[in-house]
Amino acid sequence: MFSANNVTCRFGARTAVDKVSFTLERPGFIGIIGRSGAGKSTLLRMINRLTDATSGEMLWEGRDILGLKGAEKRAWQGQCAMIFQQFNLVPRMDVASNVMHGLLNRRSTLATMFNLWPEADITRAIDILDRLGIAEQAPKRAEALSGGQQQRVAIARALMQDPKIILADEPIASLDPMNAQIVMDALRRIHDEDGRLVICNLHTLDTARRYCDRVIGMRDGRIVFDGSPEQLTTGVARDIYGADASFSEAATSTSIDRLDDAYAEQMLT
Ligand SMILES: Nc1ncnc2c1ncn2[C@@H]1O[C@H](COP(=O)(O)OP(=O)(O)O)[C@@H](O)[C@H]1O
Ligand SMILES: [Mg+2]
Repeated sequence: MFSANNVTCRFGARTAVDKVSFTLERPGFIGIIGRSGAGKSTLLRMINRLTDATSGEMLWEGRDILGLKGAEKRAWQGQCAMIFQQFNLVPRMDVASNVMHGLLNRRSTLATMFNLWPEADITRAIDILDRLGIAEQAPKRAEALSGGQQQRVAIARALMQDPKIILADEPIASLDPMNAQIVMDALRRIHDEDGRLVICNLHTLDTARRYCDRVIGMRDGRIVFDGSPEQLTTGVARDIYGADASFSEAATSTSIDRLDDAYAEQMLT
């Protein structure tokens, strides 16, 4: 359904993504891991055409999406919703309106300026927020919410677009372990229940192992691993992260698993 063939992105002399190729047969839950600067964000941004590739092709259902222009390009961008580490909400606007902004490229500028939303859109936004467990936050300003709640609003905004693909760029990097788990659980559930393809950049190994069906490891712009979480051994991880023998898994952990251990201990005592 999707394949990247020899995709390269250069910024001047620097090659951010270097002849990357991979194929997705079905809408899985894909993790992309690698240390900072490996090219993870650039790869996601090329998929949704926020960044232009220098060469190569990306086929979605047989069509090269790297060549799309104008209305076709915008339609494609509507199909792949993006979730960012910093949530990118409008802080002073209420939560429901933030969610409805997911429909932005389908609405007139005037209606948006005056914040006029059809009843059906409002109902839908509240339903999506309800699904994510935060419907009661709908009238509040986005900035009044915790980080974990704000990221769920961002996920709701993405769902409002009814996208085929969700691209999440380190969605839990700014969250504490408990909220990280809530947000990852929400993304996984959306994948399982809706059958949407999720591609999620993660800088931590434990999260990738726990949530993803398939993990792609990047180093210096290249894919150096592509396999199942089970194949992602400590030795393989050391290679992806370019660490020496002192490499410790804890250094790349969000400690979601340790959080579970802490819960287990609490339950026992
Ligand atoms: N807009 C840009 N201009 C110049 N260099 C960039 C730009 N975006 C990314 N890079 C460079 O490309 C490389 C890969 O960056 P990035 O994709 O952000 O990696 P990651 O998300 O894995 O941390 C880095 O060396 C980064 O400095
Ligand atoms: Mg990045």
